[in-house]
Amino acid sequence: MTLVLGIESSCDETAAALVDGERRIIAQRIASQDEEHAPFGGVVPEIAARAHAERLAPMIEGVLADAGVTLADCDAIAATAGPGLIGGVMVGLVSAKALAMASDTPLIAINHLEGHALSPRLADAELAFPYALLLVSGGHCQILRVDGVGEYRRFATTIDDALGEAFDKTAKILGLGFPGGPAVERLAKEGDESAVPLPRPMVGSGEPHFSFAGLKSAVMRAHQSGKYAAADIAASFQKAAVDCVIDRLSIALEAMGRTDTLVVAGGVAANATVRAALEELAERHSMRFTAPPPKLCTDNAAMIAWAGVERLAMQDFKPDPLDIAARPRWPLDPQAEPVRGAGVKA
Ligand code: KG4
Ligand code: ZN
Repeated sequence: MTLVLGIESSCDETAAALVDGERRIIAQRIASQDEEHAPFGGVVPEIAARAHAERLAPMIEGVLADAGVTLADCDAIAATAGPGLIGGVMVGLVSAKALAMASDTPLIAINHLEGHALSPRLADAELAFPYALLLVSGGHCQILRVDGVGEYRRFATTIDDALGEAFDKTAKILGLGFPGGPAVERLAKEGDESAVPLPRPMVGSGEPHFSFAGLKSAVMRAHQSGKYAAADIAASFQKAAVDCVIDRLSIALEAMGRTDTLVVAGGVAANATVRAALEELAERHSMRFTAPPPKLCTDNAAMIAWAGVERLAMQDFKPDPLDIAARPRWPLDPQAEPVRGAGVKA
């Protein structure tokens, strides 16, 4: 039975996990750094890298101990090699390289976005290729067609902010603290989603790309006007964001051709309102809908280990060289056309 150790350190979660070829998460540990970053209202890269460096080694030891295995029992060590905050990525990747060298175990350098993209297959054994994927996290906001492991075609991206970033900025404006997504979702439950008139950027345009900067500015103006309760702003923001996602997806699904399943992954996929709207959209398109459980949506190492399992199973699998570099940017679809806009997140 295949067993892969996964390591994740690309943002503010330090995580290690052991996953086997039968989709079982044998052991996993995760430490969030929310407390360290909260005073600054966002992730501070230097603090993140230091926290990863302090926590990762004991965490890997802990995960191996939890499972009662050693590195010699692992078929590969899979570590996030990008994209992400480069200091943190380097901590995880260098640790993986050292362990791979010391134990003579193959190293697999995983694209963090591929971890998210394949995570629904860890949770759902029925999910076959191809599928339509909405990947929504703090740094990325994309619609892709997934035809196989390593076969990703991007149909949409954001021309400014990612969806998770829009949630985080809304939380900041409303004084809800960090991280913002779950806080906005909680507060939105108490608000009226039609109370605050907010724009739906890009809706009505023929292209499938996202833009959330204008929505964030409108949230700021609504808050500063003093006319609206925070819960109403949160609910109206969430509704506007979901409307944008559904509209963008409708266009992208047309363009990408038929797939049986619509899949959502990434941190924002933990949001129940987003999930419900996607389920409805899938039904309208006669597609099945699947989403990983919320704990597998936000950053974790099980998805990185699983991407390792998927890579190991490929016919032309080759371990990565120990001098492979960490990458701050690493698009899933390198062929995708650049999109207009200054701050494009590939
Ligand atoms: O995938 P992830 O953990 O890290 C990245 O790779 O970026 O995603 C984190 C993002 C943050 O922006 C966070 O606010 C958002 O996902 N998020 C949510 C929820 N849980 C996490 N956004 C909306 N609703 C949630 N429940
Ligand atoms: Zn992520």
